[in-house]
Amino acid sequence: MKVKIVEVGPRDGLQNEKDILPSAVKAALINKLAEAGLQTIEASSFVNPRWIPQLADADEVLSTINRAQGVTYTALVPNLRGLERARACGLNEIALFMSASQTHNLKNINKTLEETYPILREVALEALALGMRVRGYVSTVFGCPYEGKVPLDNSRRVTEALLEMGAYEISLGDTIGVATPKQVHDLFRELVKDAPVQRLAGHFHDTRGTGLANVVAAMDVGIRTFDSSIGGLGGCPYAPGAAGNISTEDLIYMLHGMEYETGVDLQKLLEAGAFIQKQLGRDLNSKVLKAHLAA
Ligand code: HMG
Ligand code: MG
Repeated sequence: MKVKIVEVGPRDGLQNEKDILPSAVKAALINKLAEAGLQTIEASSFVNPRWIPQLADADEVLSTINRAQGVTYTALVPNLRGLERARACGLNEIALFMSASQTHNLKNINKTLEETYPILREVALEALALGMRVRGYVSTVFGCPYEGKVPLDNSRRVTEALLEMGAYEISLGDTIGVATPKQVHDLFRELVKDAPVQRLAGHFHDTRGTGLANVVAAMDVGIRTFDSSIGGLGGCPYAPGAAGNISTEDLIYMLHGMEYETGVDLQKLLEAGAFIQKQLGRDLNSKVLKAHLAA
């Protein structure tokens, strides 16, 4: 039994770091993640560099990494300008993103939900015409830092819209890490009534320690794709209170123990974790990385 992992550390992780790492370090991290066997790596963001200065060097990073065979390198794209940059770097996959809640969408991408749909539709159309694959994110599915609880119908509506635009997979984001397993189970059980289960993914931030439990809850419904971040880095600068994503090391350790195949070599992954921890100069959140370094 296989589980697909989407490594988001170089994007979700590094977008939230106070110190901006040199492009060469980012590229080295991405190369190490590919060497560890991760087959989908979200490497950066082609967003407005004024909004996310941490990833302003996306073009340089994407142009300098080794392109390992069989690995998909992807990046966030908010508009046609971002798509143009992604294409110039030779990406064959991009990720569109918007929120289930109006206020987070406004704070994060400076547009209402209604204004966002036509922009993303145009990007998706153009990307598909260029032969790219398109993935979609729905943020704040389980809670919004500005609005609190978010009605399930909002997530259903955005998921449907992104699928209709041609996204092959939709990742449901617990942006601020408030979800508990029952909520996760209930949400996915509702969404799979309309969307094929293999086109949905879970994106859990581990702010309150429920991240891996949420993965297991989603797996109960049949979800087999999860986003995670090396070292447990992560967070959204426009979502106060958001902490790191679930750690890839912890997720892989758990999945291998449950006899799922991921294609990832845990030892090599831990080397990548140790590398980025050293570069950032502080202890990261991954429990498996901590245990490994303490042994
Ligand atoms: P805006 O300022 O409203 O954009 O930003 P604009 O269209 O008015 O353009 C303003 C200027 O920015 C123009 O330049 C554009 O060319 C430039 P000027 O004419 O003033 O010199 N610009 C760009 N430059 C380079 N690349 C671009 C680009 N776009 C515009 N792509 C925008 C609107 C959406 C661009 C902005 O709000 C933005 O970049 N937001 C990104 C925020 C972000 O990255 N947040 C974190 C990621 S989401 C997340 O973490 C959640 C997730 O992990 C899932 C989860 O956890 O739930 C995915
Ligand atoms: Mg995130």
